[in-house]
Amino acid sequence: MAGATISSSLTVSSSPSIRPTYRVWTRSRLRNFTRATLTIDSGASGGVVSGSEKVLLEVKGLKAVVKESGKELLHGVDLTVREGEVHAIMGKNGSGKSTFSKVLVGHPDYEVTGGSVIFKGEDLLEKEPEERSHAGLFMSFQSPIEIPGVSNFEFMLMALNARREKNGLKPIEPLEFYGYLGPKLAALKMDPVFLDRNVNEGFSGGEKKRNEILQLAVLEADLAILDEVDSGLDVDALQDVSSAVSGLLKPNNAVLMITHYQRLLELIHPSFVHIMEGGKIVKTGDSSLAKQLDEGGYKAISSV
Ligand SMILES: Nc1ncnc2c1ncn2[C@@H]1O[C@H](COP(=O)(O)OP(=O)(O)OP(=O)(O)O)[C@@H](O)[C@H]1O
Ligand SMILES: [Mg+2]
Repeated sequence: MAGATISSSLTVSSSPSIRPTYRVWTRSRLRNFTRATLTIDSGASGGVVSGSEKVLLEVKGLKAVVKESGKELLHGVDLTVREGEVHAIMGKNGSGKSTFSKVLVGHPDYEVTGGSVIFKGEDLLEKEPEERSHAGLFMSFQSPIEIPGVSNFEFMLMALNARREKNGLKPIEPLEFYGYLGPKLAALKMDPVFLDRNVNEGFSGGEKKRNEILQLAVLEADLAILDEVDSGLDVDALQDVSSAVSGLLKPNNAVLMITHYQRLLELIHPSFVHIMEGGKIVKTGDSSLAKQLDEGGYKAISSV
């Protein structure tokens, strides 16, 4: 039994003995399923879903250090995300954006030294990484990791069933899962052959990003943290990924996306844009902040 820890902080184990069976019928069956069951569930354009005012994530004064060296990287981050909102975090290279998102999902490299994080009314920092994932937190890493020996199909099925089990639901059977995957693959214009390949192994940069969004679509997280999901995407892929993410927005979930570019925010319209600098959020505004940044660089934004 091989074990692996994946981007969305899920710990999975694979049973190599069942893999050949899947592989034999994955491709042909999936083709039939995708043809038979296709209904694209992705919205065509980005947009803020107006939701309730319920707070999904509340971060107050979050401080974190690198566990190994004790160096402080987050110096007191404050952020509130409500259901139905899309938040964008921008900021210069090295300002702490990825560190912040990794701390939220419980990355082992970092230790929280101050502040609080409440997710869906519970203390997130007390939870193990996989518990955070089961609670509905998903993260797409800036550099998605590869998992040799575990097929994409197995990985997503195990991840979904682990979450279902935690929530008292019965597991989805492989056959049913194929039907479930069909529209999601189609929305991302992904070839079903990617299900049969090991997670992210040998995938191009753009293929990895699509695959991350496929995982998100499968897991249907309450809060999706997308770290530079637009990097390395060609224009068509950017459209596909943005449409898929927009299609996943519901009144009771939210997206926190990290980006350097205004173009993503034109496709997935943010409710708020935050600027991170030196390990904290130093400015918050609407999408005009991103436009200002695009036109004049960071010097165009006062107080940064
Ligand atoms: N595990 C670590 N050990 C040592 N330094 C780290 C570690 N993780 C992050 N850092 C440092 O913390 C700073 C913030 O890094 P982070 O990856 O959060 O930046 P970022 O805002 O995401 O930048 P970019 O826009 O380039 O992705 C950087 O100087 C980085 O080198
Ligand atoms: Mg980063």
